[in-house]
Amino acid sequence: MPQPDDADILVSRETTELPPAASLPPNVNLPMVFRPTLPKPLKTRIFVVANQKGGVGKTTTAVNMAAALAGSGARVLVIDLDPQGNASTALGIEHSEGAPGIYDVVVDRQPLGKFVHGVPRFPTLWAVPATIDLSGAELELASVVARESRLKRALDTYLREREAAGERFDYVMIDCPPSLGLLTMNALVAGQEVLVPIQCEYYALEGVETLFKIVELVRELNQDLTVSTVLLTMYDARTRLSAQVAENARENLGSAVLRTSIPRSVRISEAPSFGQTAMTWDPSSSGALSYLEAARELAHRDPAAPPPSSPPQDGRQGDSDNSDVLGSTTAEATKRGDVR
Ligand SMILES: Nc1ncnc2c1ncn2[C@@H]1O[C@H](COP(=O)(O)OP(=O)(O)OP(=O)(O)O)[C@@H](O)[C@H]1O
Ligand SMILES: [Mg+2]
Repeated sequence: MPQPDDADILVSRETTELPPAASLPPNVNLPMVFRPTLPKPLKTRIFVVANQKGGVGKTTTAVNMAAALAGSGARVLVIDLDPQGNASTALGIEHSEGAPGIYDVVVDRQPLGKFVHGVPRFPTLWAVPATIDLSGAELELASVVARESRLKRALDTYLREREAAGERFDYVMIDCPPSLGLLTMNALVAGQEVLVPIQCEYYALEGVETLFKIVELVRELNQDLTVSTVLLTMYDARTRLSAQVAENARENLGSAVLRTSIPRSVRISEAPSFGQTAMTWDPSSSGALSYLEAARELAHRDPAAPPPSSPPQDGRQGDSDNSDVLGSTTAEATKRGDVR
């Protein structure tokens, strides 16, 4: 079994809440709980991790952000909405063909709660798996009324039930397939914030404009929806290309782009083959530290939180730097047509 080495470059020195690597080896079978240092959102935040370009880090971002937030004590639900089932694999959840999962929710309208699994090692992380059966869902739903709202109805009902039972979720992360078909539409209708991973490679921003246009269209059905967060992934500090893509993204997408970018990391790419996220596979790796830092930024951008000058309403949310992250920057950039 491969063991972590020091090949990764540390990008963050600010994150002090991680336990020392020696006390927590990557595959140790202990509950994964960091100190709960991140503010919890005032209400459940539902993220749609979307980019129709394939292989840009959607799944990696969904599961590692979820694990980082759960590791800080937040209650997090991951919904795998991709027939490839990669998020289910990374979280160690059974998703062989025919296994129950999100297909039963969106196609057969079964209650979401029946398919929620606890994620091993994380006391506050749950997931709904996807199987290959979901690949037929787009066709099966084609002639159905309100077919874009199937997930929203099921998710809203489930979240309300959990909240009424005193078990409110803090975050939901929906991992989308690499397309803008009916499954992604279901996620956009169900969600509030779109999290767009952008791979630091040539052509990275191509297609992002289309995604933003779709988001604008979906806003007619779901006014809550904004592109709140853009995350640069697979950043390679040794190449000019990565720096150029990052600069271009920051110029065009403004403060929606998180300050933290995720470096290329061997630990990140090998973790799923052990049914793990980088958070447990090697919590001291650059990948895990970067996702933890990105999660910290995200937690401090709660759109429901009062602006930094106002005192917190109920003491749950300490500070926020959400002033310019919600929709306006990206929408303006899209309108100007300068998202390339
Ligand atoms: N920061 C990273 N460093 C190294 N490898 C990475 C990193 N992020 C993602 N990868 C690897 O890149 C590949 C694509 O990542 P991922 O599956 O997360 O992308 P995706 O956008 O979900 O893909 P798809 O469009 O097929 O759903 C995977 O093999 C993953 O392990
Ligand atoms: Mg994926």
